[in-house]
Amino acid sequence: MATYYLEPSRTFSEFLLIPNLTTKACTPANVTLKTPLVKFKKGEEPAISLNIPFSSAVMQAVSDDGMAIALARCGGISFIFGSQSIEAEAEMVRKVKSYKAGFVVSRSNLTPNHTLSDVLALKEETGHSTVAITEDGTANGKLLGIVTGRDYRKSRDPLDRPISAFMTPFDKLIYGKSGVTLSEANNLIWDHKLNCLPIVDENQCLETLVFRKDYDEHKENPMELLDANKSYIVGAGINTKDYMERVPALVEAGVDILVIDSSDGYSEWQRETVQYVKQNFDVKIGAGNVVDREGFLYLVESGADFVKVGIGGGSICITREQKGIGRGQASSIIEVVAARDEYYKETGIYIPICSDGGIVHDYHVTLALAMGADFVMLGRYFARFDESPTRKLKVGNNFVKEYWGEGSNRARNWQRYDTGGKSKLVFEEGVDSYVPYAGSLQENLDKTLSKIKSTMCNCGSVTLDELKQNARIALVSATSLVEGGAHDVILKESSLSEES
Ligand code: IMP
Repeated sequence: MATYYLEPSRTFSEFLLIPNLTTKACTPANVTLKTPLVKFKKGEEPAISLNIPFSSAVMQAVSDDGMAIALARCGGISFIFGSQSIEAEAEMVRKVKSYKAGFVVSRSNLTPNHTLSDVLALKEETGHSTVAITEDGTANGKLLGIVTGRDYRKSRDPLDRPISAFMTPFDKLIYGKSGVTLSEANNLIWDHKLNCLPIVDENQCLETLVFRKDYDEHKENPMELLDANKSYIVGAGINTKDYMERVPALVEAGVDILVIDSSDGYSEWQRETVQYVKQNFDVKIGAGNVVDREGFLYLVESGADFVKVGIGGGSICITREQKGIGRGQASSIIEVVAARDEYYKETGIYIPICSDGGIVHDYHVTLALAMGADFVMLGRYFARFDESPTRKLKVGNNFVKEYWGEGSNRARNWQRYDTGGKSKLVFEEGVDSYVPYAGSLQENLDKTLSKIKSTMCNCGSVTLDELKQNARIALVSATSLVEGGAHDVILKESSLSEES
């Protein structure tokens, strides 16, 4: 006979936090959101911790190198999507690891033989007003000059004028030498009143550009998630099919942590994959997704460094409709956290839990953390920002960004949904959609973090550990949900016209 779980499976929206005593020490400025990313023994420090409990989803529409840099700058981690060629994924990892905050590989480059009209076209396309002029027109070619808006007059100069006639040539440029530190570069920028300083090697080849504005930005990010060499920490998704080729390439590219990306992680394939990685490499690996105690313990005993929880709750997910598997995200977290705490008591080994998918409101993050998750993974949330890799479009009067599931026909990530046998996607488990465009990652994340910190103060907690220990969480009834929103008032944005 089947086993029945007769308690309904619940979502975050069915719970609310009850405030505890807020002491005077409980101020948002005193709150720290540092959290473990990988397992550790009682009394020891985890090998990697996050400065904020946020990770971005292993998805084409969310986590490329640009998102990874932006999120690591704020203290979280991205897992670069694995549904691309091994070379392309490794290249993205390499870009994150070689990115030196403040040192930017030039993205607008031309040769001296190009013309003013090429400069204008490139500016239109990229929005960059500084163009590096190299011998071969590449980002690392021999630097022959720089063109900025000060070098030409669009209204007077002929469009076919060659760049060699108006660029600032190399012998008139102030430049930094390879190996210069960011603060030395900044001194040159200030001393010579520059907006941009090229960095060149001993052969006069361009390495990077340092912009005045980026230096200021770097100084404003005290939460940056850095490794011992001051490079950003980055994760990458793998699957249980080509891991013997993919993992060596990602490790060689410098990845800090892997995660097996699967809609259902309670499988022998996951065990084999984790064991292969553990036996052959010194790199951390998370596994998932699971929604219950059994799945959690299976992955932990396989060697996973963290476990990802959630099936069917993602905003673009139709797994529950298509296959009838899954579980409400809150119920999954509650059960897995109980298993984790018990495991910790018995073994002294703490396994971080990632709550993946289904976060709609900012307070859902706080609830996931209060219920015992160590960090969350978000797709829809990050897809809305400038830094996500997808197109920004205008639909009607609104700006939107594209966001599609890994199980949609568009992503064709069949490895994520593979259950053996035929190696292709037979039916979809995700949709292709738009999300409202929301602006920059940092601005939005700052607002979300403020809300989390404020709620933690209401709950009398200045650390995530305290929140887990102290949280009092109540189920809400359907009618009290109505009471929770604005009700029985006429909202000002409503359709009342001026005259009426
Ligand atoms: P969101 O934050 O609610 O948008 O959920 C993102 C999560 O949904 C990801 O981290 C994945 O675990 C999951 N996911 C991604 N693509 C698909 C899909 O096509 N079908 C089902 N789940 C998906």
